[in-house]
Amino acid sequence: MQRFWNVSGGWGDGTTGMSAFLMNGLIMLSFVVATMRETMVLGFSGPTLVMDQDIPSRICKYSRGYSMIQVHCKNLGLEWIPPNLKTEIQVLDASVNRVRVLTNDSLAAYTNLAYVYLSDNFIQEIQEGAFDNLRYLRVIDLSTNGCDTLPKSLFQLPYLQKIYLAKNRLSDDLFKNMEVKSPLIFLQLAKNRLNKIPQLGPLPTLLHLNVSGNSIASVSPEDLASFCSLQVLDLSKNPIKFDANSCECQTLNAWLRIRGIHSRPVYNCTEEHERGCTRPEFSNRTTELYERCSEIQRLKAETEKARNTWILIACCISGFLFCLFISLFWVHKRNKRKKKKLKEEQRLNANNANTELLNSNLNQPENT
Ligand SMILES: *[C@@H]1O[C@H](CO)[C@@H](O)[C@H](O)[C@H]1NC(C)=O
Ligand SMILES: *[C@@H]1O[C@H](CO)[C@@H](O)[C@H](O)[C@H]1NC(C)=O
Ligand SMILES: *[C@@H]1O[C@H](CO)[C@@H](O)[C@H](O)[C@H]1NC(C)=O
Ligand SMILES: *[C@@H]1O[C@H](CO)[C@@H](O)[C@H](O)[C@H]1NC(C)=O
Repeated sequence: MQRFWNVSGGWGDGTTGMSAFLMNGLIMLSFVVATMRETMVLGFSGPTLVMDQDIPSRICKYSRGYSMIQVHCKNLGLEWIPPNLKTEIQVLDASVNRVRVLTNDSLAAYTNLAYVYLSDNFIQEIQEGAFDNLRYLRVIDLSTNGCDTLPKSLFQLPYLQKIYLAKNRLSDDLFKNMEVKSPLIFLQLAKNRLNKIPQLGPLPTLLHLNVSGNSIASVSPEDLASFCSLQVLDLSKNPIKFDANSCECQTLNAWLRIRGIHSRPVYNCTEEHERGCTRPEFSNRTTELYERCSEIQRLKAETEKARNTWILIACCISGFLFCLFISLFWVHKRNKRKKKKLKEEQRLNANNANTELLNSNLNQPENT
């Protein structure tokens, strides 16, 4: 409508020349047609489409907590991540919605995100680059979705510490040939379709692993050796069987005890006790994996220590330089004052000497 009136104004000016008149008439006609078509579209299918995209970002509520910018879009029936949120958000809660796909673009604009909650959606597909822009991601919750795989790049993000993946359809394929580079502390994989403990490469940061409710049929110390700092392990609700002939149950228990891992459930190893298994032994491979993980941990600690030492040294040096500077400055100031005083004295002395000389000169003729 706006455009229509503007064009009308133009037409008023155009009446001076015939050709201009015709031109304007033509332009106006085309605008009228265009405007009518636009209005019709707007009047019928347009508004719902426009509003669908706008409403969520208007309903999503912003807040500030833990000195972070948070946005809450929970339970709004969203079918995609709102594309027009403030780009500086650090926490996004879009749990309990109807999101089906995470594309490369879904989160790409929100590069400051550190906490992403997407549990209870219908996510079945996550494109390979979906998390590539989220360099500062620390925690991601994808529990209760339909994922049967994930982008492997997720496990390479430099600050990622906690991953919640319970109640999906993840299988062993995801973890095939994977070397986790993220400093993962917590990994929740309960109620998926795993047949074995995921092999993630040496991971000295991992403290908590939950694989309850999967289809894991066997567990050995070798499966756990790469997690050399592990504290909590939940193996419950898995069809785990031990081979009593090779004392597997007692071997596992021995490993859990030596490494101080709290695990569920507690295996009694009754059959092996009856058989009188001898002292359990760990395979060379187990020892090897464990030592590789410990070595990485040791190097990390050393690097950290060296860094702290250097920081301390740098602080000491700069403190020393500061003190030196202050004292030099002070000495300089004092010297300057002394010099000034000396000069003053010299000047006074010279003055006195002059006066005396003058006096003596004045007195001289009388004496001679
Ligand atoms: C998504 O990103 C990945 C890697 O960044 C790329 O290989 C893939 O082709 C992208 N997919 C689409 C649909 O753009
Ligand atoms: C592991 O996950 C299951 C299912 O979510 C939960 O019930 C259980 O408490 C978790 N175990 C630990 C040790 O947190
Ligand atoms: C293991 O032993 C405890 C008590 O020692 C018992 O309560 C538990 O039921 C036993 N579990 C199995 C699986 O036998
Ligand atoms: C395991 O290591 C020990 C000593 O480190 C060695 O004697 C033994 O042969 C190794 N066993 C295997 C199966 O490699």
